[in-house]
Amino acid sequence: MNTTFALSSHLFAGKTAFITGGSSGINLAIAGAYAAHGARVAICGRTQARLDVAATQLRTYGGEVRAYQADVRDPQQLAQALQATRDELGTIDVLVCGAAGNFLAAAEDLSVNGFRTVVDIDLMGSFHAASLAFEQLRDSKGCILFITAAMASQPHAYQLHVGAAKAGIDNMMRNLALEWGCHGIRANSIMPGPIEDTEGLRRLSAGSALGKLADSIPLGRLGHVQDIAAAAVFLASPMAQYITGVVLAVDGGQCLAGSAHFNAGARAFLDEQARSKERGTPTVAARAAAH
Ligand code: COA
Ligand code: NAP
Repeated sequence: MNTTFALSSHLFAGKTAFITGGSSGINLAIAGAYAAHGARVAICGRTQARLDVAATQLRTYGGEVRAYQADVRDPQQLAQALQATRDELGTIDVLVCGAAGNFLAAAEDLSVNGFRTVVDIDLMGSFHAASLAFEQLRDSKGCILFITAAMASQPHAYQLHVGAAKAGIDNMMRNLALEWGCHGIRANSIMPGPIEDTEGLRRLSAGSALGKLADSIPLGRLGHVQDIAAAAVFLASPMAQYITGVVLAVDGGQCLAGSAHFNAGARAFLDEQARSKERGTPTVAARAAAH
């Protein structure tokens, strides 16, 4: 991981960060940026092998790292991971709720369980983490960062489930900022735009549709995981000590351009998935994921 911040590498010295879904992609980059700035870091996820690889990567920054197998849908597993973090690394100062699930599905094809699964991981998982970490965050006067998405505030086709879950997270974030401000706890959301080389984007777009999506972004490119990590460092730092209850878009201005490009590309992507299924060949997304 390559971090290029001109901030002190001791910015988070003596602090502990816990990142749900921290074993890959954007969340791993956030964990890496905290570690690079001196934090002790704990991550959780469902897949032990992926957690092991991520923990090895994070240890290259020289600080203490823990990786716990925990499904955010299971409050008991999450409570154990949060308590183990307190016991082994110290009271949590920064909680990042980043675990999520996503797939494209037309509203009429979305099963009850498909909708529920994404709401369970994204919204319920974020609630579990925030409520179970409350005492630690109150003791540390810490902060929470939720990772949401443009679907929370603007309809994106075939993302009904994600939009509902992420909108719920942003509203919960504002409520927590309101209620927990008196304890010195800040709560904010980061709303990433399309971030290249991530599982999330591979599930939504590929090929020429992805090129058109990138062209529609005012700053003219897809985001990098480090763009999100930089925002996560800022929002958790003393520089943001008077910022709470905000959704920070880190998207190159994509939300200004609307979701029309996404919608057109997503339809083409869904059609390609259907054709590939009929032919029994892997989709562009599956081929991309294999690399
Ligand atoms: N289209 C429509 N429905 C889908 C789907 C798709 N592409 N993928 C899953 N579902 C439905 C399933 O059919 C199932 O509903 P059903 O019981 O009515 O058939 C439901 O979603 C749950 O699927 P399941 O595979 O049992 O869930 P899981 O808990 O094992 O996995 C997912 C959760 C589906 C979100 C899975 O994609 C995942 O683990 N994602 C994590 C990684 C990720 O999404 N990264 C990007 C983050 S933005
Ligand atoms: P990713 O690499 O797939 O990250 C998701 C992580 O969550 C994985 O490490 C996954 O690990 C974990 N996870 C999934 N379900 C879980 C569960 N039930 N319990 C615990 N951990 C779970 O995807 P990403 O693209 O980097 O996305 C990261 C975050 O950014 C998400 O919140 C996503 O919604 C948001 N976002 C992404 C983009 C983008 O362009 N990529 C855009 C906007 C917002 P396991 O599968 O091993 O559990």
